[in-house]
Amino acid sequence: MSVSSTPRAGGVVRAARLYLRPMRETDATETYCGWLNDPEVNQYLESRFERATVDSVREFIREKTGDEREPFFAIVLNDGDRHIGNIKLGPINPIHRFAEIGLLIGEKDCWGRGYAAEAIDAVTRHAFESLGLHRVSAGCYADNEGSARAFEKAGFSREGVRRSCCLSNGRYVDVILLGRVHDDTI
Ligand SMILES: CC(C)(COP(=O)(O)OP(=O)(O)OC[C@H]1O[C@@H](n2cnc3c(N)ncnc32)[C@H](O)[C@@H]1OP(=O)(O)O)[C@@H](O)C(=O)NCCC(=O)NCCS
Repeated sequence: MSVSSTPRAGGVVRAARLYLRPMRETDATETYCGWLNDPEVNQYLESRFERATVDSVREFIREKTGDEREPFFAIVLNDGDRHIGNIKLGPINPIHRFAEIGLLIGEKDCWGRGYAAEAIDAVTRHAFESLGLHRVSAGCYADNEGSARAFEKAGFSREGVRRSCCLSNGRYVDVILLGRVHDDTI
């Protein structure tokens, strides 16, 4: 079942300072693995429990490529075409027309410059305007303040808390649930 009458899951999504383009197998590099294996970057990511290798990352990208239910984008700065992170939308539920966002900005010198908020807003607009989705959501560990803040800057509302949900550094932490609906005015 198509998620939209005009699905464009594989296209490029443009924003003011960056664009999103579909991930490709050539993005499976030591740099990308370095992001995933960096304890500072992965401390709030579920991927942290397995060490990333170029082969494992290539396989992951291969699985997602061409899957219109799980668009997986590279976040690339317009300035210098620098690939700074990734953002994924999905899996898309084509019945209820919702999807979840996951992202990372792997290049740490790019943190705190508003790139995550811009990428989240861009992929959300793409979800609503090109893919015909009604709702997009995300979850983040309560102590991942930068992530919660980036989603809020991109028009997401805090909708709830999954108390004591995930193990992080030997203790259970809350997970904050965030969402944005197509009709929301931001
Ligand atoms: C979390 C992450 C996506 C934030 O990206 P970013 O590009 O730095 O976020 P933005 O600059 O768009 O916005 C974040 C906001 O939170 C603030 N912020 C960033 N890191 C913060 C931190 N550690 N503590 C408190 N505030 C923080 C920023 O200053 C900004 O607020 P402001 O515009 O009011 O100044 C990025 O740090 C990252 O990818 N981390 C590793 C992976 C990860 O945690 N992914 C999210 C999983 S849910």
